[in-house]
Parts: sequence; structure tokens; C-alpha cells
Amino acid sequence: MCKINKLFKEILNYKKELLLGNFFAIVSTVLTVTIPLFIPMLIDELLLHKEPKLTAFVSQYITPMSLTGYVLFFLVLTIIMRFAGVIFANLQVGMLLRVSKDISYKLRQSAIEHLKKVSLKEYERFSPGAITSKLVTDINTVDEFIGTTVGKLIISVLILLFTSIILLIINWKLALFIIVTNPIVVFFTSKLARKVGKLKREENRSVEQFQESLSDSLELFNQIKAVNKEDYFFSKIVQKAKNLKQKSVQFSYRSDRAIRVSFFTFLSGYELFRSVSILAVAYSDLSIGLMLAIFGYLWIMMTPTNDIINFQYALSNAKNSCKRINDIFELKQERQVKQEKNPFEGNLGIEFKNLSFGYSASKEVLHNLSFKIEPLSKVAIVGPSGSGKSTLANLIAGFYEADSGDILYNGISFKEIKPQTIRKNIYLILQHPKLFNDTMRFNLTLGRKFSDEEIQKALKIAQLEDVVSNLENGLDTTVGKDGVKLSGGQRQRVAIARMVLENPKAVIFDESTSALDIHTEANLFRDLSEFLQDKTVITIAHRLSTIEQAEMIFVLEEGRLADSGTPKELLGKESGYFAEMI
Ligand SMILES: Nc1ncnc2c1ncn2[C@@H]1O[C@H](COP(=O)(O)OP(=O)(O)O)[C@@H](O)[C@H]1O
Ligand SMILES: [Mg+2]
Repeated sequence: MCKINKLFKEILNYKKELLLGNFFAIVSTVLTVTIPLFIPMLIDELLLHKEPKLTAFVSQYITPMSLTGYVLFFLVLTIIMRFAGVIFANLQVGMLLRVSKDISYKLRQSAIEHLKKVSLKEYERFSPGAITSKLVTDINTVDEFIGTTVGKLIISVLILLFTSIILLIINWKLALFIIVTNPIVVFFTSKLARKVGKLKREENRSVEQFQESLSDSLELFNQIKAVNKEDYFFSKIVQKAKNLKQKSVQFSYRSDRAIRVSFFTFLSGYELFRSVSILAVAYSDLSIGLMLAIFGYLWIMMTPTNDIINFQYALSNAKNSCKRINDIFELKQERQVKQEKNPFEGNLGIEFKNLSFGYSASKEVLHNLSFKIEPLSKVAIVGPSGSGKSTLANLIAGFYEADSGDILYNGISFKEIKPQTIRKNIYLILQHPKLFNDTMRFNLTLGRKFSDEEIQKALKIAQLEDVVSNLENGLDTTVGKDGVKLSGGQRQRVAIARMVLENPKAVIFDESTSALDIHTEANLFRDLSEFLQDKTVITIAHRLSTIEQAEMIFVLEEGRLADSGTPKELLGKESGYFAEMI
């Protein structure tokens, strides 16, 4: 989860970096904060002939000097101290950057880890574009906040603290006046910050919408071309870009205005302090030199005060980005099973008991299904389009989970088995398998190690031997994005070869040979039959020729089991699904 106070706690875990970082900050602060004392004291002592302190110190511990000597000495000293201050400040930023980059990396990592375990049903709530934008844009906003601002915050607070101490020593009344007035400015600006934070959230949301519409349209580029709808889709993207432009103008303009108004308030205070200092010289014992020193300190206070003001803006931006990042963490993860049972040792039988499921709570897709698939049997599931066949296939293979009722694998409820184990043992081959833009070999093995013989055997069974040998580089040919270099039927056969290599306990063909001609399909099933002998096989298909081979046929209609029986029993019927089948 992304929470600001948790982020702060996390920052505290980096003890070494924080200690070193703060040490550098203190050194740099002490160096820069003492500098404004030199010149004003020299004015008092050398020009206005006040009691010598600084010059007395130098003449006692180093050597007495002429007026020019003192001026040159302090000039050189000031430049050296300023330069050392720069180096230490940079070292401090480096230390804190390590902390911030590490924290935002961990945040990104844990969001990705969370995403990995999210269930498919939850994952479908956001588009990939939306998730990308949360992982990129929003985490960047948080990262910026931790990195630059937290680093600056520490040094700003230190500078203000040291400056206040020195001011108190110079003239406590004036110092108190300044110290009390400063927080009022900061308080005033925090109100403005909240408003600006909201605008930042809107800006990031527009980034998300833009990214979403862009990635969706790019994904469907061929389809859009196929229906000649380029203008429609791309003008929608441009519209989103326009919206993004408006939101960023609003955010940037208003946040700039808020920051300037805050700074104006601060500057007014600054002018007020200067005027009061002049009065203090006139009506109290404040010397002109020290008045100039106070001017110097007011100048020094300006940057840290400004940083603290900006910190509030960055804080509310970060809070809002955190909210959006939490959309990812709020996605429910897949069921965890501590001690799982493994029913996949022997031959696999599957039984449905009052199984119901819906993609959303309002619409149930499968209603109260109860039937049994015997171990090693070869069954078919048929039914009109939209009747829930693919949904059932996804439930069997562990991609979605039943809302009520049960699926028993060799008598063991799915609740007692890890979804990963189910998916490993039951292989679902889709109608439109997804291919990676990688080599044929990678698309077959998906990164696992197989010998060339194993791959050749799988290619033979899947009727892909000729296809691969005709590719320019054989197995090492890249297949293009989503496998565009292959035909639909070839892609389906790649998916079947993948399954052969995986060698699961059960296989579901979800219209996975629909793109093959009858001749190739017949060869495929002939060559597959030996491989499938020791497996439970569920075939979802439309072709009569495929279904006729089945031992049992289950007919789904509108998510209900409408009929079941052997091909002989069902195909002989004069009414029902098969009567209408051509
Ligand atoms: N991922 C999904 N999210 C929401 N609804 C879905 C999803 N997949 C399918 N559906 C709906 O579930 C019903 C059954 O679809 P499906 O199982 O694909 O049918 P079939 O495979 O029999 O054609 C349809 O009404 C479909 O609109
Ligand atoms: Mg389907």
C-alpha cells in the first residue's frame, strides 16, 4: 500500500544514509549560515569603529592585518566556505537520493508483485494503459516528492533553525518577531496547497485516460484499419490528448499562481522585517552592521521557507498519486492456499456441483451446473455462442473461480488447490492464442528448456513440421507482434504444440482448431490421439465431425446444462441443439 506516513517510516529505516545525509546537511548549513556574519561585522569593526570581535579574534589567533588584509582574508574564507557548503549539500542530496530511489523502486516492485498475484477477474477492471500510467506517472510523482523534497525539507528545517538561533543571539526581540510570523505564512499556504493537489490528481487521471485510449487503439490497429475507423479512433485519442493539455495547463498555471502568491506573502513579510530592523537600529542598540547581517539572514531564510511551502504542494500531489497507486494494491489477489492437496497424481476426473459464476455480481453467466467428467474420458461441450462454454473452460482451468458451488478434481474441491497447480495440470487452449513477439522456439517453450527432439516431436503432432521448416530461420524465426507472420491456423497449432511440450493431465480445446481446414484438423486429431490417450480431454467445438468422436456430449444453453448423452443418443434426437446443426 502507498501511504505517506508509511513512506516516512520507511525513510527512517535508512539509518546510515540518514545519519550521514544529516551530518552533511548540518556541516553545509553551519558553513553557509555563518558567512553572512563576516561582512556586516567587518563594517561595524573596520568602518564604524565598533568594539573589535572578529578582527580581534583573527589578530590573536592568526596574525594582525591591515584593513585590506582583513577584507581579503574574509573574502577568501567566505568563498572557500561557500564552496565547501556546496559540496556538502550535494553529498547530502546524493545520500537522500539513494533513499528515495530505493523507496520508490520498492513501491514499484511491490505494486508489480501484487499485480502478479491478482486474479484475472479483478485484473480486468482496469485496462493495461491505466495500470501502466499508475506504475509510471504516479510512482514518479511520489518519487519526486521523496527525492527532492524530503531531501530539501531536512536541510531547510536545519537552515531555519540555525538562522533563528543566530538571529536570537543578534537581537532576540526582532528574532522572535520573525520566528513567530514565518509559520503564519506557511499555514496560509498549506490551504492553497490542498487545492493544487486536487488538480494534480486530475492531471494524472488525464494522463491515464490518454494512455489507456492510446494503448487500446494501438493494440487494435489492424481491426481499426479493417473497418476504416482510423478517424474515429484517432480523433478520440487526440481528444484525450487535448483534455490532458487542458488539465496540465490548469494544474501548472494554478500551482504556479499558488506558489507565487505564497511567495509574495513571504516577501511582504520580508519587507516588513527589513523595515522593523531599520527601526531597531534607530530606536535600540542594533548596529548597522548587524542590521545588514539580519538582511543577509532574511535572504538565507527565503529559499528554505520557499522549499517548505513547495513541500506542501509536493506532499498533496504525492498523497493523490498514492491514492491512485492504491487502486492497484486494492485489486484482490488470487486465493492463497497454505496446505494444498494434490489431486493430479493419477488420471483426472472432474465433477461440477451446483456451480454458479458471473463476471460481475449483477449478471450470472453459469447457473447451478452439475455434471461429471470421468477420468481419461474424451468429452465435448457444445452450445450456442454466448452460452458460457468458454467461461466454464476458464473455471475448469483455474483462471476464474466459482461464486458458489464447487468443482471437484478427483473429489477434491478447487478451494483446497492452488490456482497455479490447477493451471499447470489442466491446459486450456484458446481459439485465439496469444503469441510473443519473439522466436518460434520461445513461443513454443515459453522460456523452459526442452531438447530439440522434444520440440520436433511436438511440432510433428501439432502438424507444424512443414510450417517451421519453411520459415527463413526455422525455429529461430521471430513471429512478429502477436504472431502476425503466422496464419490463424498456424497460431492455433503453435498453442497445441505448447500444450504437447507441457504434457498436462487434462486438456481443454476451446474452439482451438476452428481456423484449420477439415483435412488438417483430421490429421491433427489423428496424430494427437495417442498423445491424448492418458489424458482427460474436453473439446469445445462447433463442427459435427469433431463432436462425433466424443464419448459424452454436454449441451449448454444460457449457462445451464440443457442436455447430455453419447453422440448416438443426442444426434438421433429430433429436437434440441443438434437438430438445428448443419
Ligand atoms: N471477461 C468477461 N467479462 C465479462 N463478461 C464476459 C467475459 N467473458 C464472457 N463474458 C460473458 O459471458 C457470457 C458467456 O460467454 P462465453 O463463456 O464466452 O460464451 P461461449 O464461449 O459459449 O460463446 C456472455 O454473455 C459473455 O458476454
Ligand atoms: Mg467461447
